[in-house]
Amino acid sequence: MITCSAPGKVYLFGEHAVVYGESAICCAVELRTKVHVQKNKDVVIESTLGTTGLDFEIHPYVSHVIKKMRQFADIEGVKIQIESELPVGSGLGSSAAVTVASIQALNHLYGCGLSLEDIAKTGHEIEKIVQGNASQTDTYVSTMGGVVMIPQRKKLQLLKCPIVIGNTNKFSSTKELVGNVAKLRSEFPSVIGPILSNIGQMSMIAEDFVNEGDYRMIGMLMNVNQGLLDAIGVGSAELSSLVYAARGSGAISAKITGAGGGGCMVALAEDNNTLAIARAIEDAGGEAIITKNTQEGVRLESLDG
Ligand code: MEV
Repeated sequence: MITCSAPGKVYLFGEHAVVYGESAICCAVELRTKVHVQKNKDVVIESTLGTTGLDFEIHPYVSHVIKKMRQFADIEGVKIQIESELPVGSGLGSSAAVTVASIQALNHLYGCGLSLEDIAKTGHEIEKIVQGNASQTDTYVSTMGGVVMIPQRKKLQLLKCPIVIGNTNKFSSTKELVGNVAKLRSEFPSVIGPILSNIGQMSMIAEDFVNEGDYRMIGMLMNVNQGLLDAIGVGSAELSSLVYAARGSGAISAKITGAGGGGCMVALAEDNNTLAIARAIEDAGGEAIITKNTQEGVRLESLDG
């Protein structure tokens, strides 16, 4: 049995704008999805969503991975088991993590010889099939790890501060939210266009601050980015309440991460206020996750389970 894992991610800047070619800065976080694979008589996919064969409804990402990997290897039956620390549909890149970890696990099991670049590219193709208009961000960051500027694919310095994630536990559909932004942009191109390009500008300006570890400046810009995400309609009352709870308990910054609507917000913390921020998020009705960024993308965990 082969086990691979891949990390989730948070956006410091640029979700939604990145769909229109603007820059974003994302970091991989130490919350991982593990995929175990072994050769088997039939196709079996096991996760908290159930046990299925090739099933494009219940396990669309993994089913598409198997279909795609059949182009590189003679894959008949295979058993794939998924364990994840990433909540599904929460904006933390759970679908990219399961896709990328599954590709790498099959890559090892069948000796396909795919490079990390090939894995990121194949993962992006699969996300686009399942989701429609998906940017390369999630699959690239989950494959490569680290703090990454997209679309430049430039690695920036890791953040040294703790990260607190607040989950509203409200499922949000990336496809639907990306569609809503597209509709708003087509109705008001001269208003929404500049907002999206301002978000991209923030990522460009923040690049140096990330590399210098200037958390005060990063935080100020992240808070502005939050306002612009609200302006394009991807906020929610629950997200705002977690954002203000985190800021009120001393977070350097707090904003939505990912598609919005529900899902998660992210706060940058300091060592001495991380727990207070997590507690404030919980008191405001969210689920708090304390984590940190990681340089490690997809990785082989073990060759025997
Ligand atoms: C979703 O995690 C981020 C979005 O920018 C969509 C995408 O980049 O594909 C909203």
